[in-house]
Amino acid sequence: MRQVNLGIIGGGTVGGGVFQAIQRNGALMASRLGVSLTVARVAVRDLKKSRTVKIPAGLLTTDWQSVVSDPAVNLVVELMGGTTIARQAVLAALKLGKPVVTANKALLSAHGEELFAAAQKHRTNLYYEASVAGGIPIIKVLREGLIGNRITRLFGIVNGTCNYILTRMKDEGADFADALAQAQRMGYAESPPDLDIDGHDAAHKTGILASLAHGFWVNPKQIYTEGIRNITRHDIEFAAKLGYSIRLLGCVKFAGGIRRKKSAIQVSVYPVLVPNSHVLANVNGVFNAILVRGDVVGDTLYYGQGAGQDATASAVLSDLADAALDLKCGTKNRVPPFVPHERDGAVLPMDDVVSRYYVRLTVEDRTGVFAKIADILAKAKIGISSIIQPEGHDGVTVPVILMIHDAPNAAIRKALAALAKLPVVKSAPVMIRVESFE
Ligand code: NAP
Ligand code: HSE
Repeated sequence: MRQVNLGIIGGGTVGGGVFQAIQRNGALMASRLGVSLTVARVAVRDLKKSRTVKIPAGLLTTDWQSVVSDPAVNLVVELMGGTTIARQAVLAALKLGKPVVTANKALLSAHGEELFAAAQKHRTNLYYEASVAGGIPIIKVLREGLIGNRITRLFGIVNGTCNYILTRMKDEGADFADALAQAQRMGYAESPPDLDIDGHDAAHKTGILASLAHGFWVNPKQIYTEGIRNITRHDIEFAAKLGYSIRLLGCVKFAGGIRRKKSAIQVSVYPVLVPNSHVLANVNGVFNAILVRGDVVGDTLYYGQGAGQDATASAVLSDLADAALDLKCGTKNRVPPFVPHERDGAVLPMDDVVSRYYVRLTVEDRTGVFAKIADILAKAKIGISSIIQPEGHDGVTVPVILMIHDAPNAAIRKALAALAKLPVVKSAPVMIRVESFE
């Protein structure tokens, strides 16, 4: 039986998980693939570190370059994270013609175009199933399963840490900081976790999905990104009373023609109010889910654990299997990692994105306040679908919730700035978009 020798760079949460999963299911995979996978070398930063998954000392090194260049290693697995050394390591392996498996969405987001071009130039392949949505095989779905579809909509809960925090805040009244600390202990969070809670990790993943779905490389700087740092228990509770759950959502929507460009795509990440009747409102904890609408297939939904050792290891194993089969069969690019096919694609500017909104104002408790608010919104041609003053908030200031009809982002931004200047409005307005999944 042919043997493929793996050089793994990174023996932490994911690297340890992959090592462990190969020990557990390596023989099963060999029987299915006709190729045996052997871990030949593992690079780490610190040889003395105590590890929950024990890796034999004889396999460990701190020298990632020696792993990449080792003639015995014919498949490199980058699980170190970061974008600087990781880029060097992946490029070094590709230049040697060695296929690479990576789980590193930050790396792909920043340098994907360069890395995919290098894979093509050196006639090898770059596999990245674990970079998006943990254990859900969403990359395979977009590259292979839905290849005959134009993707018109994609909505994804793609950050396990944020979903875990939001769920615990809603269900248990947990404190944001406590829930984040627990997500870190469980191995879900990035280092630093700001990448998760400020939405950047979700933006990296949403950009990868958008690029795959629409065939042009989405510049990460063009992805409008908001995280969950400012979501309070108040908003979670008010949203619940109105029949919604708050989720951090990656949105990729075909928006039709724009100016002289052929097609414009909304690519964004922000917290949204999801109606409780919608399936995505019921995706809880570390779970991720991605709703993909194709013009042939209609709506499809993918669900599974979005972060953590075993879920991510499962996605890496899927790539190892593909890479092993490509090595066995001598296929270099059976399904190319990324093929640009939309020359005129463009990201829709956020100001042009239209949605509905939940707005919470903290206002003085006196007559005439609603009239002032309504006047500003009317001048901005923004329609209010309802105004709610939740009961049980007596005091000098009270909350007012406005549910706003469809309006462009630029218009609501200007209106909120005007509302903030009203003397009766006592703190910065809170705005969360409302998604109807139309
Ligand atoms: P981690 O636990 O921090 O592990 C990183 C590993 O890389 C550690 O073993 C570390 O060595 C090693 N390393 C770092 N710099 C190195 C260097 N210069 N030379 C050699 N080894 C080096 O991180 P992780 O959670 O496994 O994440 C790894 C990658 O997977 C990241 O790109 C992450 O975004 C991605 N990912 C993570 C998850 C998840 O749920 N955790 C899910 C999907 C994708 P030491 O152990 O000695 O410190
Ligand atoms: N930090 C990431 C998350 C890991 O929480 O989703 C999985 O990509």
